[in-house]
Amino acid sequence: MTVRKAVIPAAGYGTRFLPATKAVPKELLPIVDRPTIEYIVDECARAGLDDVLLVTSAGKSAIEDHFDRALELEAALEAKGKDDLLSTVRDLADLARVHAVRQGEQLGLGHAVLQARHHVGDESFAVLLGDDIVDPDDDLLERMIAAHDATGRAVVALMQVDEADVDKYGIASVGEPDDDGRLPVTGLVEKPDPADAPSDLAVIGRYVLPSGIFDVLDRTGRGAGGEIQLTDALETLAADEPIVGIQLDGIRHDAGDKFGFLAATIDFALRRDDLGPQLADHLRDLVATRLS
Ligand code: G1P
Repeated sequence: MTVRKAVIPAAGYGTRFLPATKAVPKELLPIVDRPTIEYIVDECARAGLDDVLLVTSAGKSAIEDHFDRALELEAALEAKGKDDLLSTVRDLADLARVHAVRQGEQLGLGHAVLQARHHVGDESFAVLLGDDIVDPDDDLLERMIAAHDATGRAVVALMQVDEADVDKYGIASVGEPDDDGRLPVTGLVEKPDPADAPSDLAVIGRYVLPSGIFDVLDRTGRGAGGEIQLTDALETLAADEPIVGIQLDGIRHDAGDKFGFLAATIDFALRRDDLGPQLADHLRDLVATRLS
């Protein structure tokens, strides 16, 4: 297995969720009863990535606390005989070895990934963006790692989006898929105007990257939005030799957006035995009342 480290950028202000995110990192906003970032770290663990580096910023150390032991809390739960909660809390610390590095100033996603250079060293690694919540039943990350193992190339996750939405994403130029469904990505452009977009295939926040990306990022100037873009560094790689696209066919929620966050919350609650049936009934009644 060549990939065992994951990098999760988590330094942003979460302005789209203010005032909720004034004192609480957006990564800790709960989807049902688990912080958003727990779904991401869980996805890493399922794919065999047990070394997770958070790229954070001032005021966000509560994210690290979430994945640490909490001895006082554990003792209190034990004393009260709350064994289920106790193991839930304890298991979190065993999910992965979680490390953190600071991104002192926020100069873009490419700059955030560059902060992982020292920790990652010369290994290939995965990058997972916390706003993108992928269906836990989908093995997207495993497929991406397998594609990287087979090709040695950078791998991006792709998803078809509405033409009107292409300016929210990195958009790929792709060729025909090979027999394993891998798409050759010959170019990438960050947040193009719909009129200039090379396709409707958007990069969603999952990447498997060779360590050579760090040198490329180092040389990458500011791009869209005045930021150092990971997309631009990948475009440099793809111009040399196609990189690999793996298409997501299942569900992905954009939890960085208010609607997407609500949709994720409803989806995950509906999947739960303890909440799903009751919530489904409630939603049916509510829709009938509110929209009648
Ligand atoms: C980032 C990337 C973009 C990608 C998107 C996926 O943009 O820069 O290429 O398509 O994530 O969620 P952001 O949403 O951080 O602006």
